[in-house]
Amino acid sequence: MKKINVGLIGFGTVGSGVVKILRERKSVLAAKIDSEINIKKICDQDIHSKRNINIDRQLLTTNADEIINDPQIDIVVELIGGIHPAKEFIIESLKKGKSVVTANKAVLAEYGRELFALAADRGKSIYFEASVGAGIPIIKSLREGLVANRFKGVFGIVNGTSNFVLSQMSTQNRSFQECLKEAKAKGYAESNPSLDIEGMDSAHKLILLTYLCFGKFVAPDDVFVEGITRVSLADVNYAKEMGFEIKLLAIAKREGDELEVRVHPTFLSENHLLSSVSGVNNAIYVSSDLAGELLFYGPGAGQLCAASAVVSDLVDLTQGIKAGLFRPTLNIVEDATIKKLRKIEDFESKYYLRFTVVDKPGVLAKISGILGKFGISIASVSQKERFKAQVVPVVVITHEAKEKNLRQALAMIDRLDAIKEKTVAIRIEEV
Ligand code: HSE
Repeated sequence: MKKINVGLIGFGTVGSGVVKILRERKSVLAAKIDSEINIKKICDQDIHSKRNINIDRQLLTTNADEIINDPQIDIVVELIGGIHPAKEFIIESLKKGKSVVTANKAVLAEYGRELFALAADRGKSIYFEASVGAGIPIIKSLREGLVANRFKGVFGIVNGTSNFVLSQMSTQNRSFQECLKEAKAKGYAESNPSLDIEGMDSAHKLILLTYLCFGKFVAPDDVFVEGITRVSLADVNYAKEMGFEIKLLAIAKREGDELEVRVHPTFLSENHLLSSVSGVNNAIYVSSDLAGELLFYGPGAGQLCAASAVVSDLVDLTQGIKAGLFRPTLNIVEDATIKKLRKIEDFESKYYLRFTVVDKPGVLAKISGILGKFGISIASVSQKERFKAQVVPVVVITHEAKEKNLRQALAMIDRLDAIKEKTVAIRIEEV
């Protein structure tokens, strides 16, 4: 039976999950693939803390070079996260003729173009199933299962922490800060939770989804990113009153021959499938021309679900290595029908606007006058409370408007004396 040697860099939560699965499912995996996947070396800065598996200490090292320079190691699994030294480990591994498995969406989103090019140049592969949606097999589905399709759009709830916070706010009627504290306590958040709640983690994952669906590697600066930190409990409750849920959506969609790529809190109809995705779950809704509308759903974070995806990558690479394939992955080919990346100013959307105003005659007329001046048409208005001469929230839903016009209008409105807080604007998406 062919033995494939693996070096694991990063023996944290997911890394120890990978070792556990490979050990506990060893015989069934071997029977399925007629090969043995053997962990030959494990590298971590900390090789002394107890994990919940017993490990032969001979396998452990603090020096990644012992893996990268070992000619008997076929595949390097990088699970340390972050950009440095993960990027250097991936580059050196490819240069030493190894394929790479990684869960690292940040390094791939920032440097994927050069890393994938290097892999192709060296006749090796980078597999990254665990980088988006943990155990949901979204990468393989987009790349292989849907290979004949052209995509119209991909809409993802791809950050479990943000989704947990928004769902807790909605169902428990608790503040953003309280819900974030709970998410941290439950261990969902990244070590730097601002990546989760400011939207960058979703943006990194969206860059990879966009690459798979449209063959375009967009730069992080090309993605419009807005996190959930300004979503208040009031907005969540007003959304519900009007038949919406607020979700942090990662969106890549085609409009004619243009592509727009963005992450932001979004009003979604409560009847949309994505609205029922709660807690730390992730879901990716894909609109494709042949297979139609598809939803991929499951836990978006966790030891064994992410490790499940890593093991699936190891199996795929093992099959490729055994078959002597130059590159076991299908090529990702650019969709030539997309000509341009749309700029944020040119986005069009309906909007939820929450103005914080002094309750006195003429204020609404001023606001609607400015909106009208910028060609923004109002679909509905409601004043949520009535305290004469005090500050009250006024909620407006607009018809489709251009982002550029909306920004100009809000800048002018927010300078009015009657406006007491920066106006909140949330896009409404009709997926
Ligand atoms: N911190 C991420 C999330 C999990 O909350 O979804 C890993 O990608």
